[in-house]
Amino acid sequence: MSGLTSRDRVQAGEAFTGDQDLLRAWAEGVTPDADLTVSEWADKYRMLASRASAEPGRYRTRRTPYMRDIMDALSPNHSAQRIVFMKAAQVGATEAGNNMIGFVIAHAPRPMLAVQPTVKLAKRNSRQRIDPLIEESAALRNKVRPSRSRDVGNTMLSKEFAGGILIMTGANSAVGLRSTPARYIFLDEVDAYPASADEEGDPVSLAEARSLTFAHRPRCFWSQRQQ
Ligand SMILES: Nc1ncnc2c1ncn2[C@@H]1O[C@H](COP(=O)(O)OP(=O)(O)OP(=O)(O)O)[C@@H](O)[C@H]1O
Ligand SMILES: [Mg+2]
Repeated sequence: MSGLTSRDRVQAGEAFTGDQDLLRAWAEGVTPDADLTVSEWADKYRMLASRASAEPGRYRTRRTPYMRDIMDALSPNHSAQRIVFMKAAQVGATEAGNNMIGFVIAHAPRPMLAVQPTVKLAKRNSRQRIDPLIEESAALRNKVRPSRSRDVGNTMLSKEFAGGILIMTGANSAVGLRSTPARYIFLDEVDAYPASADEEGDPVSLAEARSLTFAHRPRCFWSQRQQ
C-alpha cells in the first residue's frame, strides 16, 4: 500500500499512522514568534554580499550600534507598531530593514510588504539586495522557493516562503500597494515617495492600510532622509 496517504490507509481499514505528521503540522502552526530580536538574528545569521555591500561578510550590529535599538523595536515581541527613522545618508537603514525581512522569513513568517520609491527601484533593490540577502544566508536560502522563470512563488517582486510572502513594490504603484494584506511593512526612502500613488492618494497611507487586518500587532518601519 505504499504511496497511499494516512487517510487512504484509514479508509482501507488500517490503523491510523499519521500521528507524527499531525503533531509536526500542529507544532508548526502554534510555534510562537522566536524569542530572538532582529539584531541578534542579524549577528547570528546575516551575511552581506560583495555585490551589495561595501564591507562584505558577516553583518555586525556593533559596526552600526545606533541601529540596535531601532532593529530590536522591529522584533515581534516589541510593543512598537510604527518605527520612523529620520536619517542621514548611508547609515545602514536599508540593511536594518533587510534584517527585518530576513528575520520575518526565518522566524516570524507572515505576509510582508517592502516599498521603494518606484517600481523600477524596487526591482533593482530586489536584484541587488534581496536576492543576495536570501542567497548568502543559509538560514534563508532553504526557506524561499528557488527562483525559476515559471515559478510564481519567487519572482523579482515577490518571494514566497512557508507561512508568508514578501511583496516588493514602488510607492508610485497603487496596484502594488493594494496587492496584499501585510503584518510587516518596510517603507524605505519615504522622502522620495510621490505625493500620490497613481491617482489614489498618499502611498504611505495606502501601504499602512494593508496592515488593518493585523490590527493587534502590525509592524511598520519607515526610513526617511532628514531634509
Ligand atoms: N552593520 C553593518 N555592518 C557592515 N556593513 C554595514 C552595516 N550596516 C550597513 N552596512 C553597509 O553600509 C552601506 C550603507 O548601508 P545602507 O545602504 O543600509 O544605508 P542607508 O542608510 O540605507 O543608505 P542610503 O542613504 O543610501 O539609503 C552598505 O554598503 C551596507 O552594506
Ligand atoms: Mg537605503
